[in-house]
Amino acid sequence: MFASGRGSNLEALLAAIAADDGFGGEVALVVSDREDAGALDLARRDDIALLATPVGDDRRAWEASLLDELARHSIDVVVLAGFMRVLSASFVATWEDRILNTHPSLLPAFPGAHAVRDALDYGVRVTGATVHFVEAQVDAGPIIAQRAVEVRDGDDEAALHARIRAVEHQLLPECVRALCQGRIERRGRQVRVAPDDEEQT
Ligand code: GRF
Repeated sequence: MFASGRGSNLEALLAAIAADDGFGGEVALVVSDREDAGALDLARRDDIALLATPVGDDRRAWEASLLDELARHSIDVVVLAGFMRVLSASFVATWEDRILNTHPSLLPAFPGAHAVRDALDYGVRVTGATVHFVEAQVDAGPIIAQRAVEVRDGDDEAALHARIRAVEHQLLPECVRALCQGRIERRGRQVRVAPDDEEQT
């Protein structure tokens, strides 16, 4: 899991994994470009390997060392949640179909770092959360799942983001679980998530 912020999505993912013997994966490494990220505290709490790695001047060297760390920890899937660094085209190509991001809007509306504020400023009545595969173009990879959140009169950025986060806390673990269980199939931009047999019964 790559996270620069408070880490509530990591917390939700850890809780989902802890509650489900058949989840099919575990969080083996938490990476942050900020030393003060809440996600790192969660990693310490749960004794998960962590890497606090500010980018510095040499981006290529930074990404090369990240790739080494991912290999060293035998990572299969990379999950970005509030990771505020853009990864290079070659990095994401290395992880094609194995790197996800959660974004706090209904993409392709409101890409970028201020999605919640931008949706409020625009005046939309419905926004939401998107989980998508990461590709070179930021916030534009194939969409795995989306869920809507209504904008309420009087919402400010914090209130709306809190309700979007609550939705992400469901949606992201669902998508990670489906990927770990081999239930996600992608053809070009079209993504299909096969139903979970357990959930059907
Ligand atoms: C999430 O809303 C994510 O979509 C956005 O940043 C937020 C990260 O939240 N890119 P947290 O650090 O997981 O609490």
